[in-house]
Formats: sequence, structure tokens, C-alpha cells
Amino acid sequence: MQHLLSIEELSAADITALLDSAALLKAERGGHAAQPLAGQTWALIFTKSSTRTRVSFEVGIRELGGFPMFLSKNDIQLGRGEPIKDTARVLGRMVHGAIIRTFAQQDVADFAGYSGIPTINALTDDEHPCQILADLLTVREKLGGWEGKKIAFVGDGFSNMTRSWMWAAKRLGFELAIASPPACQPPADFLTTLDAPNVSVTADPRVAVDGAHVINTDVWLSMGQEDQKDKELEFAGFEVNAGLLSSAAPGHIVLHCLPAYRGKEISEEILELHADTIFQEAENRLHAQKAVLVALAR
Ligand code: CP
Ligand code: NVA
Repeated sequence: MQHLLSIEELSAADITALLDSAALLKAERGGHAAQPLAGQTWALIFTKSSTRTRVSFEVGIRELGGFPMFLSKNDIQLGRGEPIKDTARVLGRMVHGAIIRTFAQQDVADFAGYSGIPTINALTDDEHPCQILADLLTVREKLGGWEGKKIAFVGDGFSNMTRSWMWAAKRLGFELAIASPPACQPPADFLTTLDAPNVSVTADPRVAVDGAHVINTDVWLSMGQEDQKDKELEFAGFEVNAGLLSSAAPGHIVLHCLPAYRGKEISEEILELHADTIFQEAENRLHAQKAVLVALAR
């Protein structure tokens, strides 16, 4: 692995190896001497807000012996229009790796190509691979794995989160049922490219949640879409709440990548009932991303 740009680009073996490494790093946290990033500086280039991703990467880089350098769009010339390919060629000569949160997936791919240093997608409009690795680690810890399990996603069917989940289902073969309003479902050409009979799409959240072992949701309006109030209106009836979960499988878990909007995509009651899992999922960002850093370190 040279970069982590998407779940799409990973194989099942890549994902399994990263999760195995994450589990080891989690078990050994604080007790292991290996410092694979010793003497290295890794840049975090963020053009969108972040709590979990920024903190988990900064802590993870330090724990592996490296130095994180946080660069918000407004602090660097990127924010004044300097092209990504120029930013990449400058940083590629100075730092050892880059973690990028931005809008266009192409910008992350271009950075990787022009910089020549390991590059990690920390969320784009297309994918959120670091989050899905943490989510899979959580499913493995809580349920022992995804074999024979039904995973439901209730919400925006074509967000970065659902796209990464669809590629994870394609690579790993678990059943993924997406419930989304018709206007927010994955388009036919994407599903044709995905070519995954184990991924289904419905407009009825009850169909997706029925018998599900994992119920996953996310904000209705992703970063950059905050003013799309018409889109938000589409989601009436899509709240993950006790009524909806009444037909889920016994022992089901609820995931939310956070931040959460209570009373919209998830009820206060369900978020607090499943807080142990949801905050374990948030913590797993640290362990999963340390595994990615170790895999990419040169
Ligand atoms: N889940 C997630 O990526 O959170 P942040 O936006 O806070 O980084
Ligand atoms: N889909 C959300 C994920 C936030 C972590 C967004 O892009 O805003």
C-alpha cells in the first residue's frame, strides 16, 4: 500500500491486515516501543472542519514517534488559490506524509501523484475510508465479524459514508441494505460499476432494518451541503429511533460516525442507549489510523 485514498482501492486482504494491525496497536497502546514515524513530520491539510479525525491523527502520529503539522486551508496559500499540484510538490520535498480532508476526491489523488509521499484521505465528498476501517473494527469487536451479518445504513444513500460502506461490502461480501429517500439513493451507473448483489437499496427504512445486526446512520446534510434545506426535507421518517429498531436482530448494535444531530437522523434515546458502541467506534479511529500510518510509513 502506497496511499489510502479510498476503500474502493483496497482488497479484502488489505482491509483484514489493517484491522489486525489496529487490534494489536490498540491492545499494546502505551506499552510498545516501536516508533515507525521517528523523526518524520506528517502534514494534516484540512479544508473542512474536524474533531475526531484531526485529534486521532495528531495523537496517533505522536504515539508512533512523528510530528503532526496541522495546516488549515486558511493558513496556507491553497486557500488563496494555489493549485493542489503545486502545494503537493512543495510539501512532498519537506514532509514525510500527508493527510487530507477536502471536497474533491481528485484533489487527494492529485496530491498523492504530485507529492510522491504517502497520502491518506481523511474524508472527501466521495469517501471516508478511515471511518469505515474504524467502523469495521468496531463490528469485529462487538459482533465477532461480519460473516452472516446484515448491515443496514439509514440515511443519505450517496454520501461519502455510504459510498465507502458500499465498497467495503463489495470487497468483504457482507449484506448491506441501504435505506434512503429516492432522491438520495445511489445512481444506477454507480451500482452497475459496483456490481455487488449483496448491496440492496430501498426507500423503506423498515425493510433495511428488518433483521439487521448493525444499524448505521450519518448526518442528512454532509459538510458543504448545509444550505440544502430541500434535501433535508426528503428524510421525513428516516430517524433511527426505538420504533424503527423494533424489528432489528436481537443484540443489534448502532453505529454513527459522529457528529450526530439528535432528533434528525437519530433519536436522543437511541444515541444514548448505544453510546458505548458509538464512542468505542470514535476511539477506534485512533487505532485504525495508526495501523494505516504504520502500513504507509517509509
Ligand atoms: N467522524 C468524523 O470524521 O468526525 P470529524 O468530522 O469530527 O473528524
Ligand atoms: N457525511 C459526513 C461525515 C462526517 C464525518 C460529512 O461529510 O459531513
